[in-house]
Amino acid sequence: MTPTSADQANTLRLMRLEKSAHTNDAPGEQTSISGTTPTVIAIASGKGGVGKTSLVANLAVAFGEMGHRVLALDGDLGLANLDITFGTHAPLSLADLVDGTASVQDVLRPVANNVYLLPACSGRYDLANLASRERYELLSAIDGMDQHFDTVLIDTAAGIGSNSIGFAGAAERVLIVVNGEPTSLADAYAFIKVLATRCGVERVEVVSNMVRSTLEGEEVFKSLCRMAERFLGVGMDYMGCVMRDRMVSRSLFMGQPLLVVAPTCPASQSIRQLANRLSRQQRTARAASGGIQLFWRRLVASEASQ
Ligand SMILES: Nc1ncnc2c1ncn2[C@@H]1O[C@H](COP(=O)(O)OP(=O)(O)OP(=O)(O)O)[C@@H](O)[C@H]1O
Ligand SMILES: [Mg+2]
Repeated sequence: MTPTSADQANTLRLMRLEKSAHTNDAPGEQTSISGTTPTVIAIASGKGGVGKTSLVANLAVAFGEMGHRVLALDGDLGLANLDITFGTHAPLSLADLVDGTASVQDVLRPVANNVYLLPACSGRYDLANLASRERYELLSAIDGMDQHFDTVLIDTAAGIGSNSIGFAGAAERVLIVVNGEPTSLADAYAFIKVLATRCGVERVEVVSNMVRSTLEGEEVFKSLCRMAERFLGVGMDYMGCVMRDRMVSRSLFMGQPLLVVAPTCPASQSIRQLANRLSRQQRTARAASGGIQLFWRRLVASEASQ
């Protein structure tokens, strides 16, 4: 069969990405504080607008403050806005990496103390709908930076599209963000269902966002638990809640992460507590983990079975 021009374009892009995967694209020469591979955490939700991107940016800052070297990866490949949340404009993005016009080193941006961003771009339909193999090659291109990071945070797109499920299904930890609205709970349930059935994920972690009290946060978690544990058999761990706080939105207008502009506001305090809890568990779970390598392997395995 004669290859189409689309096939040829895909093959060319894959060849460029494979080449990029074998160059040393790490920032500086430092190795990670743990001396091992980083923990990969995907932040997902199902429903849009529940606070994933805000949480990724501010968790990254919180981890950075704790001395972790953090890579924040914008996995919302077609409608990216993690760069805006960090208050930076990224001239280059993962689109340039996929197109072969930039290396990982060119695209990577320092955005906060100990935090590097791999920004995506907005308005590229092809990126929002990457083929499995392309997504794998894109991630492999980043693989060379293993020893330079302790934590990789992936901001995923809303919905149950292949990019979101692909990133979450392959991550070592999946943090589901919910708020109390029935639609948020229903969509989180749907997301977890697809994650469990297509990728065999047996356990997720949950954070309740935009709550007015810790009690409300626990109630939101219990509501999701009742559905997901009973009907899906997926284990759920409650990581805590983030308070509803108008400073979250104001920080966007101020062009800096919340933790920078309002370090002591209620939402900042809850995000620091969340980062602390995640970090403590990260250290105890390390022995059983394969870090970023495991992440890529599971990605391939999960997608090969589809
Ligand atoms: N804890 C909070 N308190 C108040 N507002 C919040 C909080 N968290 C997020 N928001 C607001 O909710 C809106 C959506 O946030 P964000 O963009 O982070 O959500 P998202 O889940 O990434 O959305 P999308 O699915 O479209 O990518 C923003 O206006 C943000 O300022
Ligand atoms: Mg978002």
